[in-house]
Amino acid sequence: ARIVVLVSGSGTNLQALIDAENAEKARSSAPAFGATVVAVGADRTDIQGLDRAEQAGIPTFALRVKDFATRAEWDRALRDKVAEYEPDLVVSAGFMKLLGADFLAAFDGRVINTHPALSPSFPGMHGPADALAYGVKVTGCTVFFVAGGVDDGPVVAQAAVPVEPGDDVESLHERIKTAERALLVDVVGRLARQGWTIDNRKVTFQ
Ligand code: GRF
Repeated sequence: ARIVVLVSGSGTNLQALIDAENAEKARSSAPAFGATVVAVGADRTDIQGLDRAEQAGIPTFALRVKDFATRAEWDRALRDKVAEYEPDLVVSAGFMKLLGADFLAAFDGRVINTHPALSPSFPGMHGPADALAYGVKVTGCTVFFVAGGVDDGPVVAQAAVPVEPGDDVESLHERIKTAERALLVDVVGRLARQGWTIDNRKVTFQ
């Protein structure tokens, strides 16, 4: 399956997908990953996520909102650029912009996102910080299908992560990201190999 990954920062989720694909190539005995990253897109330039793609020889593009007259025009330009790569699945992994109606209409039901909290708890930009502030003992990460809202689409998979005494936002987010990378690779591989259906928010692998 062809996947386009959207990033805004360090790109460790992207790296996990690249590594899973390379592991499959390196060892024929490795379980088939079934997905290949055909392009990496970003909403900004000079981020490590784009460097990781370039090091892996993967085409990249960056579309900044401020370069467009309106947000809707940026959304349509992103849609058209992603469409050039004919993805089976679009993976928003640490991408910090909300994808708009035109983008989601073009890739309806084929856009997944990772969130470093157990949805529906702690949506938005500061999931780990909000979990820490709330004082939960268990948080985690969620992979879901983007449906236009903020981190509220149909859930594909989740992983629980303990909050340790003495955690600060960084230590907690790093622990979450370790689980998140494994979860994302598992989900992307299964979606790529098995296909899926979504019925009334329930995701079923075929
Ligand atoms: C991930 O935890 C993602 O869920 C959140 O920001 C982090 C991005 O990490 N939105 P990276 O860019 O994949 O390293």
